[in-house]
Amino acid sequence: MRKKIAVFASGFGSNLQALIDFNTDGDLGGDIALVFSNDPKAFALKRAKKHNIRAGSINPSGFANRQDFEVEILKILKEEKIDLIVLAGYMFLLTPLIIGEYKNRILNIHPALLPSFKGTRGIKDAFEYGTRISGVTVHFVDGEPDNGPIIMQAPVFISQDDTLDEFEKKIHKVEHKIYPQAVKLFCGDKLKIEGRKVEILPE
Ligand code: GAR
Repeated sequence: MRKKIAVFASGFGSNLQALIDFNTDGDLGGDIALVFSNDPKAFALKRAKKHNIRAGSINPSGFANRQDFEVEILKILKEEKIDLIVLAGYMFLLTPLIIGEYKNRILNIHPALLPSFKGTRGIKDAFEYGTRISGVTVHFVDGEPDNGPIIMQAPVFISQDDTLDEFEKKIHKVEHKIYPQAVKLFCGDKLKIEGRKVEILPE
């Protein structure tokens, strides 16, 4: 059965766009039914609306705590019968409520080779550290930020002539290539988790 996907994004939404485009040119094996943001001004919401995808935001500051905020999000996820949550630049930590409800059904993309350069500044931190190879990681989300079992990684080389801006562009190019592939594997039931390891099952 085709999976119903919710993409969570806080900002520009270029990874969301890559997923939308992949489903236009090819097939993710699932449909993006919802785009959610914690920020009403996120450009990702505009991208979704342009493609007639249900899109909306809830402001977390209107809630006493993060759990109450997530109760509202869960209502919408259930209404849309969402199977998979894809975090694409969602810069707001999930609580055990959603993580528990969607155990092994939340993917995240991180702009570095985990476990290096965790956090919200993965690109800048790797660049400033002077590392020669960084990259992109797609992983399942567990209780700890940037920690769950790794599905896919791809390297990005930093040449000594690269500016931060140039390096960032290289990272995004790789992100846009591998995230749709990882989502497609999930939608095709090709990912098997054994502890920290993820096995990609054959076709
Ligand atoms: C992406 O580079 C993604 O890897 C990063 O936010 C960016 C969102 O870009 N996520 C994290 O740093 C999570 N720790 P986008 O809005 O253009 O897709």
